[in-house]
Amino acid sequence: MDRIRIRGGNTLSGTIPISGAKNAALPLMIASLLTDDTLTLENVPHLADVEQLIRILGNHGVDYTVSGKRLGQSGASGRTIHFTARTIIDTTAPYELVSKMRASFWVIGPLLARMHKARVSLPGGCAIGTRPVDLFIEGLQALGATIDIESGYIVAEAKGGLKGARYRFPKVSVGATHVMMMAASLAKGETLIENAAREPEVADLAACLNAMGARIEGAGTSTIRIQGVEALSGARHRVLPDRIETGTYAMAVAMTGGDVTLEGTRSDLLQSALDALRAAGAEVTDVANGIHVRRNGNGLQPVDVVTDPFPGFPTDLQAQFMALMTRSSGVSNITETIFENRFMHVQELVRLGARISLSGQVARVEGVPRLAGAPVMATDLRASVSLVIAGLAAEGETIVNRVYHLDRGFERLEEKLGNCGAEVERLSS
Ligand code: EPZ
Repeated sequence: MDRIRIRGGNTLSGTIPISGAKNAALPLMIASLLTDDTLTLENVPHLADVEQLIRILGNHGVDYTVSGKRLGQSGASGRTIHFTARTIIDTTAPYELVSKMRASFWVIGPLLARMHKARVSLPGGCAIGTRPVDLFIEGLQALGATIDIESGYIVAEAKGGLKGARYRFPKVSVGATHVMMMAASLAKGETLIENAAREPEVADLAACLNAMGARIEGAGTSTIRIQGVEALSGARHRVLPDRIETGTYAMAVAMTGGDVTLEGTRSDLLQSALDALRAAGAEVTDVANGIHVRRNGNGLQPVDVVTDPFPGFPTDLQAQFMALMTRSSGVSNITETIFENRFMHVQELVRLGARISLSGQVARVEGVPRLAGAPVMATDLRASVSLVIAGLAAEGETIVNRVYHLDRGFERLEEKLGNCGAEVERLSS
């Protein structure tokens, strides 16, 4: 199993190209199931989760081709992939595949909308919490689907097709909002989704669906209105920049000090996280091609954060921000409100010398003057990258085990950090 070795202490300076967003690419790829035409996605990141979803979609009959490099493109450009679901050959998503990646459960929306039936394995729990699927079930039932649970599978059917309806989510869910938008795009009549997730990835999926001929208004706000259409066509769509990768590298720069341009990204995608970074003492400015992050000299101030659905502070940056706060000059409280078990990084940060105590959903982080390298590992991708951030500032050598978690969500991490002066190396075994 590969490991990452970090020798801490270097500041970061230079440019880091930001990849296409994993959490936008995955639902966009799933949307290819909605049409027999070709959906072309540009700026698709090269990640283990993307490769895994390609295999899962292949099981339903989706063909794909990857375009070669074009004139003027650097190695940093994301790939262009063409997805074609000419014929859906299988409406079952088996346990062996869904259990490997939770987002693959989302195929239930397009399969039900296009084929009027789907049999999808329940995803089960995962490292960051129980993550139930009740909101998907309720939402699809509102669109007229009958849903049974049989031997660990959700068996959904909509004889004669889905019908538009008004549905209010009792709790904000990114995945359930994606699924409802995809399903309602091919339902008969109008659907009104209230208390929808407002994440930029939801708006990105809606933009792609609209390019495919869907009629969706309001995505990116909490009320989404969808007029169902008979069929969707192919389209070409560019995946939006990864706000979590952006925030992660911004936090790495704030941690080590230095001066880095995050290229090809946008500050409006992560305003609340950038505000927290500014409060901690980093300078964050918009530049023509991205965001510039700098921290020189001054130490880090403690900052309290509470995770919340967009536009709040993202749960996917909570671990990274906690790593940063381990070096602040005081006490910060970090509250996790989205997932009940997303603090696995705490004990590993403590191994590096951090002082953190947990009480329910609040982590109290008391800043320390130094961290010291150690072997660490984590069981979730954002937790793993928080250990990389801590390792960049720790004295001596940090070995991050189980690198496959990082490969799920961070493209060429060691190269991107290495090009800015970090000593980060992958050890293959
Ligand atoms: C998406 O997961 C992201 N995944 C997650 O990123 C992210 O942490 C999460 O949104 C929150 O921002 C992708 O986009 C692929 P939710 P999702 O449904 O859609 C509860 C990463 O590191 N809930 O918005 O699965 C749920 O348990 C990943 O890249 C129900 O109760 O998250 C959680 O407490 C990890 N019933 C809350 O809602 C349901 O039916 C929000 O989850 C569905 C969800």
